[in-house]
Amino acid sequence: MSVILYVNGTPYRRDIEDRILLVQFLREHLHLTGTHVGCDTTQCGACTVIMDGVAVKSCTVLAASADGAQVTTIEGLARGETLHPVQEAFRAHHGLQCGFCTPGMLMMAVDMIARHGAALTEETVRDELEGNLCRCTGYQNIVKAIMSASAAMSRPAPASKVA
Ligand code: FES
Ligand code: FES
Repeated sequence: MSVILYVNGTPYRRDIEDRILLVQFLREHLHLTGTHVGCDTTQCGACTVIMDGVAVKSCTVLAASADGAQVTTIEGLARGETLHPVQEAFRAHHGLQCGFCTPGMLMMAVDMIARHGAALTEETVRDELEGNLCRCTGYQNIVKAIMSASAAMSRPAPASKVA
């Protein structure tokens, strides 16, 4: 079947087999390999992307059912050389070690900050990370990074000077 997905703002039309998963579509058809596969069984969260504004585990979504969707992957976060605030916070707070879980953690963080805004608490972050597993960090610095990014993204932008 033919599907069209809007990935990181770019439309991609591809002919695919019905059984292809969204994560396979991203990695194998579009060569966007930043989205990782840790388990393939909905356990680890390494494959998390944002689809139509909601974080999903892309190993559990058929590409066919994503036809017409807007998808954001880890490759879509930075703007050129400028890191997304969540990426910057993970860098500053050492929220990663081997980095395998990191793309999924970042996409989940973006989703939870968008939903909770300034009301995001450390307890909520820990609850919502239940489906994202990390073998390296012990989570402490991941939680710190997400709280820091949430604070940075909730601050009002400085007023621009009027000449
Ligand atoms: Fe999708 Fe692990 S690869 S949840
Ligand atoms: Fe290694 Fe999370 S940083 S699995």
